[in-house]
Amino acid sequence: MYTPYLLLLSCSAALAAPSSSTSRSTIKLPLPPHPPSNLSPVLDRALGSLSIELSYFSDFAGNLSNPNTLFARAINNLYQRTGKHPDIRPGGITADSAWFVEDAPAIVRDLSASGGIYRTTLGPAWYESFTTLPSDIHYVVNLNFQNNSLALTTEQMRSALQYIPHDQIDAFELGNEGDHYPSTFDQQSGNGPWSMETYTIKYLNWTSSLAESLNITTPIFSAGTFADDPPSGAFNITGILAHGADSNGLTLAYSQHMYQYSTCDPPRNQKATLENLVNHANITAYVDLWIPQIQAADAAGGEFFVGEYNSVSCSGKLNVTDTFGQALWVVDTTLWAAYRGAKRMYLHNGATLVLQSAVQANTPGYSKYNLIMPHDSSETGPARLSPSYVGYLMIGEAVGAGGESRLAPIETEIESLGVYGVWEKGTLQRIVALNMDPWNGTSTYWDWNSTATALPAATGAEMVRPGVVLDLGRTGRKAVVKRMTAPGLNEKNPHLVTWAGQEYYAGAPVGKYKEEVVRDGRVFVGASEAVLIFLDSEPGRYN
Ligand SMILES: *[C@@H]1O[C@H](CO)[C@@H](O)[C@H](O)[C@H]1NC(C)=O
Ligand SMILES: *[C@@H]1O[C@H](CO)[C@@H](O)[C@H](O)[C@H]1NC(C)=O
Ligand SMILES: *[C@@H]1O[C@H](CO)[C@@H](O)[C@H](O)[C@H]1NC(C)=O
Ligand SMILES: *[C@@H]1O[C@H](CO)[C@@H](O)[C@H](O)[C@H]1NC(C)=O
Ligand SMILES: *[C@@H]1O[C@H](CO)[C@@H](O)[C@H](O)[C@H]1NC(C)=O
Ligand SMILES: *[C@@H]1O[C@H](CO)[C@@H](O)[C@H](O)[C@H]1NC(C)=O
Ligand SMILES: *[C@@H]1O[C@H](CO)[C@@H](O)[C@H](O)[C@H]1NC(C)=O
Ligand SMILES: *[C@@H]1O[C@H](CO)[C@@H](O)[C@H](O)[C@H]1NC(C)=O
Ligand SMILES: *[C@@H]1O[C@H](CO)[C@@H](O)[C@H](O)[C@H]1NC(C)=O
Repeated sequence: MYTPYLLLLSCSAALAAPSSSTSRSTIKLPLPPHPPSNLSPVLDRALGSLSIELSYFSDFAGNLSNPNTLFARAINNLYQRTGKHPDIRPGGITADSAWFVEDAPAIVRDLSASGGIYRTTLGPAWYESFTTLPSDIHYVVNLNFQNNSLALTTEQMRSALQYIPHDQIDAFELGNEGDHYPSTFDQQSGNGPWSMETYTIKYLNWTSSLAESLNITTPIFSAGTFADDPPSGAFNITGILAHGADSNGLTLAYSQHMYQYSTCDPPRNQKATLENLVNHANITAYVDLWIPQIQAADAAGGEFFVGEYNSVSCSGKLNVTDTFGQALWVVDTTLWAAYRGAKRMYLHNGATLVLQSAVQANTPGYSKYNLIMPHDSSETGPARLSPSYVGYLMIGEAVGAGGESRLAPIETEIESLGVYGVWEKGTLQRIVALNMDPWNGTSTYWDWNSTATALPAATGAEMVRPGVVLDLGRTGRKAVVKRMTAPGLNEKNPHLVTWAGQEYYAGAPVGKYKEEVVRDGRVFVGASEAVLIFLDSEPGRYN
């Protein structure tokens, strides 16, 4: 849809001067004077959480003798902003072929000829990765279900209870994406083909047995972990609740996964473009498909979280999910899901798994959608934080540390603007504004061997970046702006992606910290960038 705004942009190029916002279109941002009736539930300070492919969790966390300092910095930056570390879910497809063996070394990954992990053996030392990380981190522990051995799963869960302090365990999950198990899974039970009904029977039976064997009397399981999008997917929370998934008193949460795009097969790969991804109307319509699931969990008295999500399944896509555009996608998806009542969003990080699909586009290496590249790798370059990382900083500062924030979207006439108001104690405190119009930079290809850490010399293209001026209607009142930006949507060099003027390539902020103080109530948001506006409070400074 072409809005008047977009038409304006096409002729603004010739007129624009770099520091003047007058040549860009201005819109009034109607700031609601009172908390709107559609405020989200109170935001979890760990809204932006992490899922890490189980077989690679120790690569990210490290262990007691070799902690991964890049990962530690990445999560500490979030802690500084919210007073809480992100929750971590070591899980994913490799959880369904993992087992615990008392006398095994920390981790043994067995690979097939094509490089797929067909089994992961975990020993007691694997749990060092948990104790290496700060002790306030909460975990979702993903257990093997597909092996269909209650004894194996009981032993795995027993080991987790032995080595992870109980107050750090949010929930246990049975299996990963059980809706993708073959229909013959569990046929020996005599319960019929694998379906939401047979899932529920087995889920109740196993959770009861596990609780009995391990002396658990309070709810500790999260049901679901389904892969496919509702309503087309064959399994969902609504359905398993209708079959009584909450009936043994052991379930405290429900989870489904979210992957809006995919490189698992050629037709979907073709659709996974940066322009398709960075689209506010499309993101919100997609997330809204989960509304009935969130409501069903809520009605059953459990929380709903998205235990695994990312933009493009089968490990992301080169030149799409490894760009700054992914940061905009992450912020918009996460905030909209929080608005709809998802408690936490676990952004998946891992490595390309050949067993995901026989026709996927990706080759081995750390996943191209990772927030964090945990180690140097010949396939994916040096250990670093990705261009999307700043998105999690923005989410952290939007949520804040007060523990009472709630949000609601603020609608504007511009379809490509995602705007959210964050309320605390009845007052509008902060505004997130994402301008999702595409704008490519001029230096798009990042050679990780190059040491460039600065913008190329200013170009004409940079000078005329289009955008919109938000008029907050607050002349004479101070507001402070932090900006998330890069030369363009397609920027792959993390050195050129900044939050409040600083880049986070190596985890610690580098560059001159930049707050923009506004006194005329007017805030410019360029195409393909985002701002966090602090209305009457000073922003925290964490560098
Ligand atoms: C800790 O990590 C290092 C580096 O990966 C590894 O060499 C060492 O064996 C690990 N320690 C344990 C107890 O697994
Ligand atoms: C279950 O796990 C055991 C131990 O790893 C393995 O030998 C067996 O093949 C697995 N079975 C299935 C059905 O995955
Ligand atoms: C689970 O199902 C098995 C097989 O039907 C049965 O023997 C067992 O008692 C059930 N366990 C629980 C806790 O319901
Ligand atoms: C559960 O409790 C029983 C009885 O108190 C005890 O014998 C058993 O060792 C406990 N099991 C575990 C796994 O803690
Ligand atoms: C749940 O899944 C079933 C089976 O695919 C489907 O008919 C139903 O519409 C889904 N429910 C929701 C709320 O998406
Ligand atoms: C989002 O856009 C993609 C690609 O154009 C399209 O396939 C999909 O149906 C859209 N989804 C929604 C929920 O609008
Ligand atoms: C922006 O860059 C991406 C990837 O480099 C490319 O696919 C896309 O066509 C470009 N879009 C525009 C509007 O130039
Ligand atoms: C990624 O982008 C670079 C620079 O635009 C280009 O050379 C390369 O072919 C692209 N790769 C893919 C798979 O799109
Ligand atoms: C980086 O340098 C190494 C060693 O010279 C080379 O093998 C690799 O292809 C280079 N990578 C890129 C992206 O140019």
